[in-house]
Amino acid sequence: MAMTKPMLLIVDDEKPTREGLRAALEDRYDVYIAEDAAAAMTLLERERFDVMLTDFRLPNEDGMKLIARAKSLSKPPICILMTAYGSEEVAVQAMKSGADDYLAKGRMQIDELEMRIARALKGQTLEEENVSLRQQLDSKFGLENLIGESAPMRSVLDKVRQVAPARAATVLILGESGTGKELIAKAIHQLSPRAKQPMVTVHCAALSATLLESELFGHERGSFTGAHERRIGRFEEANGGSLFLDEIGEIDASTQVKLLRFLGERTFERVGSNKTVTSDVRIITATNKNLTEMVRAGTFREDLYFRLKVVEIKLPPLRERRSDVPLLAGAFLREFSRENQKVVKSISPEAMALLTNYSWPGNVRELRAAIEGAVVLCRGDRVTPEDVQDYVRPPELGMSGPAASSTGGAFETVKDAERQLIVRALKEAEGNRTMAAKRIGMSRRTLHRKIHDYQLENL
Ligand SMILES: Nc1ncnc2c1ncn2[C@@H]1O[C@H](COP(=O)(O)OP(=O)(O)OP(=O)(O)O)[C@@H](O)[C@H]1O
Ligand SMILES: [Mg+2]
Repeated sequence: MAMTKPMLLIVDDEKPTREGLRAALEDRYDVYIAEDAAAAMTLLERERFDVMLTDFRLPNEDGMKLIARAKSLSKPPICILMTAYGSEEVAVQAMKSGADDYLAKGRMQIDELEMRIARALKGQTLEEENVSLRQQLDSKFGLENLIGESAPMRSVLDKVRQVAPARAATVLILGESGTGKELIAKAIHQLSPRAKQPMVTVHCAALSATLLESELFGHERGSFTGAHERRIGRFEEANGGSLFLDEIGEIDASTQVKLLRFLGERTFERVGSNKTVTSDVRIITATNKNLTEMVRAGTFREDLYFRLKVVEIKLPPLRERRSDVPLLAGAFLREFSRENQKVVKSISPEAMALLTNYSWPGNVRELRAAIEGAVVLCRGDRVTPEDVQDYVRPPELGMSGPAASSTGGAFETVKDAERQLIVRALKEAEGNRTMAAKRIGMSRRTLHRKIHDYQLENL
């Protein structure tokens, strides 16, 4: 690699800080400085920076928003946020806006800062090499439809690349509704040596027990009422390729037995026949049900469960990989502006913050639908908070069941963090809302709504 100095952008509105940092860092970095977000953006669009070090408090737009904007560039810099005071809430917010690291200014030592920059840079170079290698492979094999750069998503994709080449290894894909299970199943097939053969999908929940059995294994003429013709089943149709059994948690006891036998012997009989048939298929299954629970409850065979989960891929819910939200939102924005023939170029930082903070109980599917709606509603070339606000309402209070409780936790902490941020800003501004809004970098209108939502009117 060439020995040029890494490009570093320092954004701070206080001259002494700016100059102090420059003096301390300029022999190792090619240092540029900006005193506010606008100046920083101009530089970021013109040059390619490796690292941006920005203060949280900036005159017009705060450091987090700047980071969110910088991260939407095609080659984003590593972003490190500095704040005057260290606090949990700011840290949470910083990471959500896409910051790679976070430093409390008061306690900051130059050598620690340098160490952090170096560490971040090392991560990025490695990461960059991986990205370009991966992009070559992905476009060759059709993984490019799968969006996600968050750590949990990267490990999912690594696992996909790793298991796909095995010809017969059975794969079980787990995850909440809308997390992308079907997309993963397709990717595995496409990356496998079976890619040129068919991938056949069966949605197990859509069929009654009798129909499912004959759909899968085929039937002989007259084997049951309505079976007028001899029909080959999906197992035979998928011969040489892959069979994707979606919603596997829904299959009845007798189909479970037949499937278990197939996984052991690779043979079965058509319904109404005693002739044994073989098929060479790879079985991929998926479910949003908790199979372990079902095994415990006796509704799913334990032996079948173990056969299916030779390789298990767990897709994390979107709220556990919020850094993927901007990437996904951007991709869906392009998709739907094309489809609707509208020129919607970007999502405003405020709108993106709403999207990133929301808990997405319907996961990627829900986000995709929200962006489609926002594109349709959008009047200008930029998606605003007004275009998305109806899609990011918190779930109804009093909603019960597993979905509610599992989304509840994550949402609470985000909400708490935001609430506390607002409370503090209001206190610091002695109740002056315009000033408080400025401090947080929110529009006055948004702050007003949030004060109402959080019932902070009396502060
Ligand atoms: N990582 C991703 N990148 C791009 N699009 C995605 C991603 N994950 C999911 N999607 C999109 O989200 C939608 C839902 O995905 P998919 O149908 O694969 O989910 P699922 O887990 O099978 O859901 P369900 O359990 O409800 O069947 C699809 O439109 C899919 O293209
Ligand atoms: Mg599905």
